[in-house]
Amino acid sequence: MNIALGITGSIAAYKSLGLIRLLRKSGAEVKVVLTKSASHFVTPLSCQTLSANEVYIDQFLLTKGMKHLTLSAWADVLVVAPATANIIGKAACGIGDDLLSTALLSFQKPVLFVPAMDSDMWANEIVRENVNKLRQTGFHILEPSFGALASGKIGKGRFPSVTIIQKKILVLYEKHKPLDLMRFLVSGGRTEEDIDPVRVITNRSSGRMARELLYAITCRAGIVKGVIGGVTVDFPEDMDITYTRTSGEMLEGLKENLSWCDCLIMAAAVGDYRPEKKKTRKIHDRAFSLNLEKNQDLLKKLIRVKSSPLVVGFSLEDSLLLARGKKKLTSKKCDMIILNSYSAMAGETTYAKILKKDGKVISFGEVTKWQLANRILDECIRALGKRRKKRKYK
Ligand SMILES: Cc1cc2nc3c(=O)[nH]c(=O)nc-3n(C[C@H](O)[C@H](O)[C@H](O)COP(=O)(O)O)c2cc1C
Repeated sequence: MNIALGITGSIAAYKSLGLIRLLRKSGAEVKVVLTKSASHFVTPLSCQTLSANEVYIDQFLLTKGMKHLTLSAWADVLVVAPATANIIGKAACGIGDDLLSTALLSFQKPVLFVPAMDSDMWANEIVRENVNKLRQTGFHILEPSFGALASGKIGKGRFPSVTIIQKKILVLYEKHKPLDLMRFLVSGGRTEEDIDPVRVITNRSSGRMARELLYAITCRAGIVKGVIGGVTVDFPEDMDITYTRTSGEMLEGLKENLSWCDCLIMAAAVGDYRPEKKKTRKIHDRAFSLNLEKNQDLLKKLIRVKSSPLVVGFSLEDSLLLARGKKKLTSKKCDMIILNSYSAMAGETTYAKILKKDGKVISFGEVTKWQLANRILDECIRALGKRRKKRKYK
């Protein structure tokens, strides 16, 4: 994947150095175009060193070829991150008065703008009009985050995390279908069940599958809420996530949002067993035995609620036993079950099968959880069919 990265004169420009590193770590080749203003914020030397490529600033240098055209032919995606109000305005008006704005005029493949600015600038009516014009023309916009700004204010205008920018670029490069504001409720991570006030029974789930689902849904223009238990991977700060600990708390969090969603994806590793009795005081005995009972089944409890959404369950099985998966599919009234191998637990990749209500089975070799998340979402688009509620961008 070849990425042309335009950096413009925002105080957030230093963060795009982290983006260059992340893109290269994920295997992409990066060439940086700096505007004159941007070079006040980051040096060409830093960009050149981190990208391991020539940095482009001046359109009229006496080198062979027209840089805006050669860059356009080379890159798969052109990303402007951070994008100032100025470059957004120039692109919306078709102005090409430097290398980056001229490259934007000639580029025929996907273009992603990642605006970053003060909240008053972002709220400015002309900036809003320019952003809408770009969106309507087919440019992609990753909205800025809400939070603390360089001015000291709290508001919308923050540069989003570099991970979400990298995932958005992947969605454009891999040409994933948009989810058209479809609403997803995703559970993830592990639950804990108390033995006494300080000790718990839990499992080794990392939460990575749910995190990749949250990223994929957001970057494919869906709306997502997460109900997440214990995790060992970082979750994005600016997503709608309710953190829970026990299976009871997770059930409550899911119930609250069930009627809101079009699709429920249960990627959480809910403990199968819990102590029969929770001790109210810390256990100090030299030895003790613990009786476990079957834990509550969240899916069975949830689907009793009226007007169920599309339901996607997960099942961790040794050697991906189809028979057990099929039994779960019917007993839990799921539309789809994702069979995962043990290696999925806390791992970055998995061997998986998707079992569908109509009896079809889709098998994968080893896939990353990002790839699996996107395959699940493709199946959700298909399965939702007429149930799918199309909502227009506001
Ligand atoms: C310290 C400082 C910080 C700035 N931060 C931003 C910013 O975050 N977003 C923005 O749109 N403009 C910001 N500006 C204004 C732009 O740098 C200015 O509009 C410039 O002309 C943009 O040029 P460019 O789009 O060609 O890079 C900032 C200016 C200064 C002096």
